[in-house]
Amino acid sequence: MEIIKAYIEKHKDRFLEELLDLLRVPSISADPAYKQDVLKTAEIVKARLIEAGVDNAEVCVTPGYPIVYAEKMIDPSLPTVLVYGHYDVQPADPIELWTSGPFEPVIKKTEAHPEGAIFARGACDDKGQMYMHVKAFELMMNTDSLPCNVKFMIEGEEEVGSESLDGFVKANKEKLASDVILISDTGMLANDIPSITTGLRGLSYVEVEVTGPNRDLHSGLYGGAVANPINILTQMIASLQDEQNRITIPGFYDDVIELSLEERADMAKAPFSLDAYKKALDLSDIHGEDGYVTMERNSIRPTLDVNGIWGGYMGEGAKTVIASKAYAKISMRLVPGQDPDAITELFSKHFVRIAPKSVKVKVTPHHGGMPYVSPTDDNGYKAASLAMMDTFGKKPVPVRSGGSIPIVALFEQELNVKSILLGFGLDSDAIHSPNEHYGVFNYFRGIETISRFYKHFTDLTK
Ligand code: BES
Ligand code: MN
Ligand code: MN
Repeated sequence: MEIIKAYIEKHKDRFLEELLDLLRVPSISADPAYKQDVLKTAEIVKARLIEAGVDNAEVCVTPGYPIVYAEKMIDPSLPTVLVYGHYDVQPADPIELWTSGPFEPVIKKTEAHPEGAIFARGACDDKGQMYMHVKAFELMMNTDSLPCNVKFMIEGEEEVGSESLDGFVKANKEKLASDVILISDTGMLANDIPSITTGLRGLSYVEVEVTGPNRDLHSGLYGGAVANPINILTQMIASLQDEQNRITIPGFYDDVIELSLEERADMAKAPFSLDAYKKALDLSDIHGEDGYVTMERNSIRPTLDVNGIWGGYMGEGAKTVIASKAYAKISMRLVPGQDPDAITELFSKHFVRIAPKSVKVKVTPHHGGMPYVSPTDDNGYKAASLAMMDTFGKKPVPVRSGGSIPIVALFEQELNVKSILLGFGLDSDAIHSPNEHYGVFNYFRGIETISRFYKHFTDLTK
């Protein structure tokens, strides 16, 4: 058997056990209650990198959670691959919907993963995918097949906006110099349809607060005579989209770079079943912007979605009350051409403008991020494509994703290096949801593909 496959086969059980151990630590970056666990995870990642054979590894202190940096430099004249990933995870709630503990990983079979999938928060996003890189590196070290230099930069704040990474990248441009950035934090179409992600959406995220009367009121005594902030907020939100499901904020689409008909025709070649899509989500019909198909709506078109909305009485039974305040969290996914700060500004102005005089409105921006597109004709993409072909026996299709990894655009801007989004998750893996999982098949095939990437990239670049 060929060296790569043989090494994985031999060390399979340990590779799995090590990942399960990593998944047992609840590294939830959003919740300060888990601070010690997040810090502990950084130390574990560092230790594993050292065991795998890096020359030096550090847990770099930042104003937030630390960044694990490590490198193996074999020859400065050879190309350098910079691996990025994140060791932090999303909160696990709603916890009651998990069929097993979010931090007690177990392997169970699913329809998409007949060989079994690891159920745990972070299994796919991103501990499982990040750890494939550590194991691929170990494999290359122990089989004397590392063909170039490697640097690792694994952060702990991706799920909360990568705030500290921004400063780290700007302050360490030399240290982070590389020829390509390799990231596994996205997905592929299906286990028998390999694909490479060629784009990410950007993000503008705001919180809005609508205030009516200065205190909660009896809805009988005052109802009908004062503005109810919940009624007003829902009307305002409803007005943000028209009958064509287009966003009504003036100027919102002005800078959108439209795809050519040819590019759209290319996109339509990627396999997609609307029936399977609806069935998987238990939907009787789909929804979205007129003039675009589902695969376009969730990748090349910008969106506006309410992520949460609250206010008033939410306890048991009925309480007759007009709340003083109502709130919503709203995200806008952005596409190339759109600038998150400019969009946040357009949103804020518009939201204040459409508010009736009977209420006060406050808009608070949260983190944002730039969209990203990558070429399909450079060495990074070519190497990824060849590596996937070796592993899966099929040429991967390029696919633009609807998700966001805001730091990728910053890498391009600050380091002037393109990122290859070589992800192995499936949409059905339930990232950010209860029962997140990652296919055992995907984990091992990922390790295999990553190991192959280095060889192809070095051959193409040398
Ligand atoms: N890994 C995801 C992003 C992703 C997943 C992209 C699947 C493409 C396919 C990442 O961890 C994530 O969740 N990003 C956030 C943005 C961030 C600013 C919190 C997102 O997309 O909501
Ligand atoms: Mn992620
Ligand atoms: Mn995520």
